[in-house]
Amino acid sequence: MTLKNTDQRWGAVSQLLHWTVVLLIVGLATVGLLMTEMPNTPRKIEIYALHKSFGLTVLALAAIRLAWRIYAGTPAPVPGTPHWQARIASLTHVLLYVVLFAMPLTGWLFNSAAGYPLQFFGLFNLPALTGSDESLRETALSLHKAGFWVLLSLVVLHAGAAFYHHLFLEDATLRRMLPGRRPPSA
Ligand code: HEM
Ligand code: HEM
Repeated sequence: MTLKNTDQRWGAVSQLLHWTVVLLIVGLATVGLLMTEMPNTPRKIEIYALHKSFGLTVLALAAIRLAWRIYAGTPAPVPGTPHWQARIASLTHVLLYVVLFAMPLTGWLFNSAAGYPLQFFGLFNLPALTGSDESLRETALSLHKAGFWVLLSLVVLHAGAAFYHHLFLEDATLRRMLPGRRPPSA
């Protein structure tokens, strides 16, 4: 397998970034939904701080991934894919990138408007995106919450399509995003 994407498959870098971000998103969403119900203890503050740091990691990985995609190109649609399906897949990927950036940025905006400091794994501080602002805080939080449901809907569509291709059409769509030595045949 090559590092760079080829016409037939995703390379190692795109695969590593894709599956790392999948794991991070699952963790962030689960912890995000549970942490708000926790009693107000120092543990809760630690969990919030971890949610924020891992969320910022997704922001950095999304930027690296997008830059790599522009540099390394994308495989052609799997042979036999109807044009309209390829268009929907591309549109879904664009929207997934939009939420990948929007989720951490709305979280950061909420944190800034609430007047909280923001540290990356206790290593360094990040600047506030805005001063304290109650109405912006509420808007950013609503967007962060709504963004999660948009993300979930897109991921159900996206992963559902990948499994449909793999299990029912038995083509290379999923295999070419998985490690393997030979380029998967269509
Ligand atoms: C891809 C990255 C992220 C995902 C998927 C994510 C997901 C979530 C989810 C699902 C919730 C629960 C929302 C609800 O109660 O309905 C949440 C809450 C929260 N997120 Fe994130 N988040 C991300 C990044 C961030 C970042 C970077 C920050 C801050 C810098 C942040 C700050 C918060 C805060 C403070 C809450 C709790 C809000 C409250 O107290 O109601 N998140 N997040
Ligand atoms: C079990 C869950 C998932 C499965 C099975 C899956 C599967 C795949 C497959 C097979 C491709 C290649 C599609 C093609 O060649 O046309 C792909 C691409 C992509 N996936 Fe997923 N995916 C999953 C979750 C996610 C999540 C959670 C995100 C982001 C939030 C995501 C974002 C993307 C993006 C942006 C692409 C385009 C390629 C790129 O730029 O990296 N996927 N996925």
